[in-house]
Amino acid sequence: MFRMNEFEIFLKKYVCCGTLSEWQKECWERLMVQNKLYPDSGVELTPYIAKHYDRLMNAISLGIYSRFIHKAIADMGIKRDDNILDLGCGTGKNASLMLRYLGDEGRITGVDLSQIMQGQFEKRFASEHRVTFQRQRIDVPFDLGKKFNIVFISFVIHGFPHEVRRVIIENVIRHLKTSGSFIILDFAEFDLAKMPALYRWVFKKIECKYAFDFIERDWKAILSGYGFGSFTEHHYIKKYARLLKGVKEK
Ligand SMILES: C[S@@+](CC[C@H](N)C(=O)[O-])C[C@H]1O[C@@H](n2cnc3c(N)ncnc32)[C@H](O)[C@@H]1O
Repeated sequence: MFRMNEFEIFLKKYVCCGTLSEWQKECWERLMVQNKLYPDSGVELTPYIAKHYDRLMNAISLGIYSRFIHKAIADMGIKRDDNILDLGCGTGKNASLMLRYLGDEGRITGVDLSQIMQGQFEKRFASEHRVTFQRQRIDVPFDLGKKFNIVFISFVIHGFPHEVRRVIIENVIRHLKTSGSFIILDFAEFDLAKMPALYRWVFKKIECKYAFDFIERDWKAILSGYGFGSFTEHHYIKKYARLLKGVKEK
């Protein structure tokens, strides 16, 4: 198992201070990815994928991903004054789409562990006072010291062991106001064995083992156990992706 030595602690201190060059940041991310906490996870991205994430998603999906994400964000039902926490926010592409629905009083806080994602996110919103970024792991307990009325997580939670997903849900509850919504955009629940052969082959090729477990779980039942209710859902891409919204009832 990976243990931080003094050099890495020293390096981390400078990464967090933001004093490293682009090359040094990339070395740091390579070091972290090689020593992933969850070696079988696909959501801790390599520096190359992190750097080109939006373009790769569009190219691989032949533009389908972009159309789907526009539709899904529209279906979130964002109100002008919403205060949104986006966990594992990536490049800020989703935040830029959410921003279209917010008025001057609305806010978005993006959270991600990746320094490369942070760079892209902060560049995208350099002159946007309604959007801020926080560098933070979401798979450990954390407290930003404020509450939001929407917590959004898109294509992140499937990539962890189930006990870690529970830590993420506890983080969601800690940051969500009563009557606020937890919105998961991710794979839907489906039976891999019943998927058309070509789709199944692609899914197995590109997805990590935790995703296979994610699609088999009853997410409304899991979230009900944490006090969420009044569920609504929208399906996309032949019902293989889903936007699931649950309301924090107390
Ligand atoms: C598959 S990408 C999805 C990005 C974005 N949510 C979207 O839908 O385009 C996964 C994102 O989660 C971030 N991530 C992975 N593990 C994380 C963790 N433990 N804490 C915070 N962010 C994490 C990655 O850096 C990456 O930006």
